[in-house]
Amino acid sequence: MLSAPKASDSLTLEEVKSQIYSRNNPTLTPIDIEMHASTVHRILELKKKHNVFMLGHNYMEPLVFGLSTEQEQGDSLALSMKAVETDSDIIIFNGVRFMAETAKVLNPNKTILIADKNSGCSLADDFGAEQVRELKAQNPGVPVMIYINSYADAKAECDVCCTSANAEKIAMEMPGDELIFVPDLFFAQNLENVLKGEKKIIYPGKNNETKGAVCEVHEKFSLQDITAMRESFGLIKGHPNRMLYVHWECKPEVLQEADYYGSTTQIRNHIAARVKEGTLEKAYVASECELTSNLMEEFPTVEFGTACSVRCNHMAKISLDKIKPILEAIDSGSDLSKWEVNLSDEIISKAAKPIEKMLSFS
Ligand code: 13P
Ligand code: SF4
Repeated sequence: MLSAPKASDSLTLEEVKSQIYSRNNPTLTPIDIEMHASTVHRILELKKKHNVFMLGHNYMEPLVFGLSTEQEQGDSLALSMKAVETDSDIIIFNGVRFMAETAKVLNPNKTILIADKNSGCSLADDFGAEQVRELKAQNPGVPVMIYINSYADAKAECDVCCTSANAEKIAMEMPGDELIFVPDLFFAQNLENVLKGEKKIIYPGKNNETKGAVCEVHEKFSLQDITAMRESFGLIKGHPNRMLYVHWECKPEVLQEADYYGSTTQIRNHIAARVKEGTLEKAYVASECELTSNLMEEFPTVEFGTACSVRCNHMAKISLDKIKPILEAIDSGSDLSKWEVNLSDEIISKAAKPIEKMLSFS
């Protein structure tokens, strides 16, 4: 995705600095670069020395995102697939805890580390296994599809997992006319609208008392905000070279206003294709703002609208200053339990089924 410093290169501090400057990321000032280059240098040095695989979600701030090579970056689906493919014994997951849990389920014998185990997600934190059991009891025999933004114990109760990159496809692959989808209420309604009645979607709160969840970041976008953005930034509806991109976790009326909706990597790939054709002038992405910071670096010819108050506080917990001590501890052979993600064998074996089923469809 980005021309990030490669972990395989042995770089001096000056080389690391000059690589960061050459990225020309408009959100990285010389102050940021001078302040953090030595930490980036040390992390990359130890990453290479210990053959650490460092996955980086698209929402990571640019300096953290750049610690991962292109092969280590992506959305939830891409990162799950990459977690399976690596031959490194140690994975550091720069993302939130449910993502690191997914990596652990897929790699039970590897060491999975995360810079802050408290990096949650409102979707995963506000919905659990108990609520899945409730919905299953009310709808016996109906398959359950769970969004990847959930913890392993909730996944363990479900038939299949999905991400925003494959929900529509997997919903149609599942047997029967009905499907329970948890936990995201907006995503569920968006799925219902997109499938146009081809499959009945049962979700928390729809003719039942079960409480669902929403993404605390994407719920912030109202239709009014989006229309105001169209007007102030010149994203004229129907203009061939100006695009409003929206993530699946937004409210249904916001998704319906989009020129394109998808997962973070699908949005990135759509932008890449339009840039290649030379047909994208301006874009606004209704999602977490560091995604836009990374897109601005990768696609300098596109003028991006920004809203940097829209930040996921959970993703923001993953910082250079918290990643470096993990690598120092690996280097000195110290205890890693502060960062290590562990799950019981029972949860791993149960949660592996829906995740592997999803990967078999992807
Ligand atoms: P993606 O799978 O699209 O990267 O989304 C993950 C997420 O948490 C969105 O808020
Ligand atoms: Fe969870 Fe929303 Fe943050 Fe994504 S942006 S990790 S869905 S809280």
